[in-house]
Amino acid sequence: MQVARTIGEVRRFVAAGRRRAASVGLVPTMGALHAAHLNLVRACQRDENFTVVSIFVNPTQFGPNEDLARYPRDEAGDLEKCGQAGVDVVFLPSAAEMYPQPSETEIAVSALTRTLCGPHRPGHFEGVATVVAKLFNIVQPDRAYFGEKDFQQFRVLQRMAADLNFPVEVIGCPLVREPDGLAMSSRNAYLSTDERRQALGLIAALQHGRELITGGEQSPVVVEDAMLTVLRGNRIAEVDYASVVEPERLQPVERIAGRVLLAIAAQVGTTRLIDNLLVDPSGASG
Ligand code: PAF
Repeated sequence: MQVARTIGEVRRFVAAGRRRAASVGLVPTMGALHAAHLNLVRACQRDENFTVVSIFVNPTQFGPNEDLARYPRDEAGDLEKCGQAGVDVVFLPSAAEMYPQPSETEIAVSALTRTLCGPHRPGHFEGVATVVAKLFNIVQPDRAYFGEKDFQQFRVLQRMAADLNFPVEVIGCPLVREPDGLAMSSRNAYLSTDERRQALGLIAALQHGRELITGGEQSPVVVEDAMLTVLRGNRIAEVDYASVVEPERLQPVERIAGRVLLAIAAQVGTTRLIDNLLVDPSGASG
C-alpha cells in the first residue's frame, strides 16, 4: 500500500495504478475508519477498481460551533485498517496541501440542500461539494463510493457530478448498523454509555415510522409526529428534524403514496447524530 501526502504523489501513484487496473475507485473519508468505511472499500474492490482511500478532515464543512477540533483522528489505526483491507493508495493530505490559499470558489447544489440538514448546517454542503470536487480533480477516479447514512450528502454529490459533467460514477452504499441497530458513525465515539443507549431512540423512531407507513398511514405529518414522540420517549429532546421526504429530490411529500425516506437529525448529549430509513408502503424492503 502506498501513502501519498501530496497531490503530486497521489497523481503519480494513480497514474501507475491505471496502467495495471481497468478502473480507479475513490473512497473519500474523514478517517476514524470503522466497519462502514471498510464496507465502502470492499464495494470499490468488488468493482475491480484500483482503490484509493482519501483521509482528510475537511475544515470547510464544519460550522464555527461544530466539532472540527475534537473530530476523532487516528492516522496509525486508519493506515493499518487500509493495509489489512488491501487498499492500493491512501491519500492523506494536510490542510495546507488541500487549501494553500483560502478557496474563493465554492460549489453550491441548490434545492437539494434546502431541506433536512441544509438549514441546520449553513455552509456544510458547500464545503463537502467543494472538497469532493477537488478530490475528483486530484484523483480522477472512474467511480466514487459514499455511505447512505449521509443520504443527503450522497444525493448532493451525485447531482454535483451530473451537473458539472464529472466523468465519475457516484455510488451509494447501504448504511451499516451496529448489532443493536445504531447507525455506524465516527461520531459514535463521543457517546457515553448512557448516551449510547439513548441514541437507539433514532432507529426506534424510524422503525416506528416504517410500521405506520406499511400499516397504511399516508399522512407525513402523522408519521413525523409519531417519530418525535418516540424520540422524546428516549429522552431525545433536541431534534433538528424527523422528516418524511421523497428519496430523489429530498422534498417534503403531501401524501405517502410511494417510496419515501424517513430521516432524523438529533442531538444526543453534545453529539449530533443522523439516521435514515428508506420505506416502501407496500412493505417491500427499501
Ligand atoms: O462523509 C464524509 O466523511 C465527508 O463528508 C467527505 C465526503 C469525505 C467529504 O469531506
